[in-house]
Amino acid sequence: MGSAIGGVALLLVAGAACAPDPGAAPAGSDGWLTGSTQEKFETVAGQFRGFDHAMWEVGYRYSELHWAGEDENWEYAMYHAEKLRTAMEQGFERRPAREASAADFLGSDLPAVKEAIEEGDYELFNERMDVLTNSCNICHAMEEVPFMPVERPSVRATVMRLPGAE
Ligand code: HEC
Repeated sequence: MGSAIGGVALLLVAGAACAPDPGAAPAGSDGWLTGSTQEKFETVAGQFRGFDHAMWEVGYRYSELHWAGEDENWEYAMYHAEKLRTAMEQGFERRPAREASAADFLGSDLPAVKEAIEEGDYELFNERMDVLTNSCNICHAMEEVPFMPVERPSVRATVMRLPGAE
C-alpha cells in the first residue's frame, strides 16, 4: 500500500517534469517570438530598445515643441512638452543609470517651459526653450555624447502647421 502511494507520487513528479512549458508556444504574427517565457521577455525587451529610441522621440517632440511655439499654438506645445517627459521617463525605466544626469532637465527646465506655455508668453517661451536646449547639451556632455549637439531647429520637417504658418 505504502509503495503503491509512493509509485503514484513518483509518476506525478515525473509527469510534472515532462509537461510541456505552456509559455514555450510561439507567439506573435507567424509565431516570430520563440523560446521559453523568459526568452520571449528578453526578445521583447530588446525590441523596446534602450535610450537611443527614447532620444529619437525626444528629438522629434523637441522640434515640434519649438514650432508649436513659433505658431503660438499653445495647446500643441503643451501636448509635446508632456509627451517629451513621458518618452524620457520611459527611457529611464529601461536605462536607470542615465536618470541622474537629467535631474535639472526634468526637475526645473522642462517645468519652466510648461509654465511659459500656460501663460501663452512667446518671449518667455523662447527664453526658456534656450535654457532647455542648453540642458539637453549639458546632459549629452555628462552622458559622454558631446558629439550630439542640440540646437533650435531652423527648418520645419513635419506636416503639422496652422493655416498660414511658414
Ligand atoms: C539623460 C540626459 C539626456 C538629456 C536630458 C537629453 N539627452 Fe539626448 N541623448 C542622451 C544620450 C545618453 C544619448 C545617446 C543614446 C545612446 O547612446 O543610446 C542621446 C542621444 C540623443 C539623440 C540621438 C538619438 C538617435 O539615436 O538618433 C537626439 C536626437 C537627442 N539625444 C536629442 C535630445 C534633445 C533634443 C534633448 C533635449 C530636449 C535631449 N536629447 C536631452 C542623453 C540625454
